[in-house]
Amino acid sequence: MTDETLQSRREILVALTCAACSSLLPACGTKTESPPATGQTVTIKLSDETALTTIGGSIRKSYGTNNAGQPVIVVRTGQSEFKTMSTVCSHSSGSLQAPSNNRSVCDLHGSPFSTQSANFAQPLSGPATTAVKTFTTTFDATANSITIQF
Ligand code: FES
Repeated sequence: MTDETLQSRREILVALTCAACSSLLPACGTKTESPPATGQTVTIKLSDETALTTIGGSIRKSYGTNNAGQPVIVVRTGQSEFKTMSTVCSHSSGSLQAPSNNRSVCDLHGSPFSTQSANFAQPLSGPATTAVKTFTTTFDATANSITIQF
């Protein structure tokens, strides 16, 4: 075997190793695109979601193909105010977990996102730097329900 053959094999191995590693590692620093809007609305009776009957209460659920089939987090941020955010992280598509202590933490790199009204869906620390997608959520006091616009 010549030196040129060894060099060539070494270059191929390095190239294959790099390709394999890059396919296994999350794309750190790659900003996630927001899921496309579906134009659908989902109405939730608060009597069916008791976690939303108190201020600060939240649910984490999927609603069909909305939000690209990924769950959303719905939070009661006030007596008559509800807010909804995607669980798809704005950093590299990790998944935001169920809220605790007014934040939802990404399972991939750990950025916490606020679930409080004033800075809802905003990252509280890196590596994420931009808010996750939010969905307009309206409260109907008469029907005691909320409607999420996807
Ligand atoms: S994917 Fe990196 S912080 Fe969420």
